[in-house]
Amino acid sequence: MSDARVKEPRPDPATGPNEAELAEAGLRLDVDGAIATITLNRPERRNAMTFATWRGLAKIGESLPGGVRVVVLRGAGPAFSAGIDLGMFSGGAGAEDAGGAFPDGADEAASDRFIADLQAGYTWLRRPEIVSIAAVHGHAIGGGFQLALACDIRVIADDTKFCMKEPALGLVPDLTGTKPLVEIVGVNRALELCLTARTVLADEAARLGLAEHVVPRDALDKTVGEIVTALLAVNPGAAVATKRLLLEAPHNTLDEQCAAERREQIGRLRELFGSQSA
Ligand code: CAA
Repeated sequence: MSDARVKEPRPDPATGPNEAELAEAGLRLDVDGAIATITLNRPERRNAMTFATWRGLAKIGESLPGGVRVVVLRGAGPAFSAGIDLGMFSGGAGAEDAGGAFPDGADEAASDRFIADLQAGYTWLRRPEIVSIAAVHGHAIGGGFQLALACDIRVIADDTKFCMKEPALGLVPDLTGTKPLVEIVGVNRALELCLTARTVLADEAARLGLAEHVVPRDALDKTVGEIVTALLAVNPGAAVATKRLLLEAPHNTLDEQCAAERREQIGRLRELFGSQSA
């Protein structure tokens, strides 16, 4: 049985990325009370991402203030993200700006650690303490598509174009995207999408369950705002416990899940009524 109750390290705002690091990573971070908005912010490169971007995302996750309950990811300019910065393959982006060179795989342990550090930019978005929303418009390719898949809720504009491009470039999708993709669309459809590297438009994305909401492009921000408001209206403890429970559900037997429901509900009852019965 998976243990979704394992606590993530406490976020520490003192270790967060500074403005220069965020700029180098092509990111903007706005924290407003319980809401953190992360903007992929290299519109002139269609928000292409480098190693620095993924490490920057990980650092934001590590240092998120404890009061943040909703994290919104969005893209500046005409696209959500064009995926990995292709300049990194040709040397155009410069290894320094990109946050280092590709490992050649010869040292397996070092390469494994290298990729794990990049994946950490995506995994924290599943934390029970937050709800993550991808607000997607335009192209979401490769690492960009995987970033949307890492989020709990995908709200997409009607001009969205998803594409898992990695196999066409000789790579595999390795930024945590294969698991949610398979869980959402099934192995066969995931295989077809990845191995043809074809583009999925908004209507099909909605049919496949890749989006919780499809809205006109100019209604994206408003819709996301309404969802954020609804999420914040829910009791915070119940929200965390419910997300934890839902994350466990696919891996549990019915008996295990019933036990998990009881355990979480007892925690809720203690918090809601404990002081009265004491
Ligand atoms: N890396 C670097 N630069 C990129 C980029 C990328 N992934 N995508 C776009 N750009 C740059 C273009 O080179 C262009 O720069 P100039 O203005 O200097 O010419 C600028 O952004 C605008 O691009 P376009 O004119 O092509 O814009 P468009 O709106 O017509 O098309 C697009 C957008 C469909 C995203 C197209 O640019 C494109 O196909 N980009 C490449 C997408 C791609 O193959 N990404 C890799 C995915 S695989 C992956 O992500 C692997 C992984 O995580 C492990």
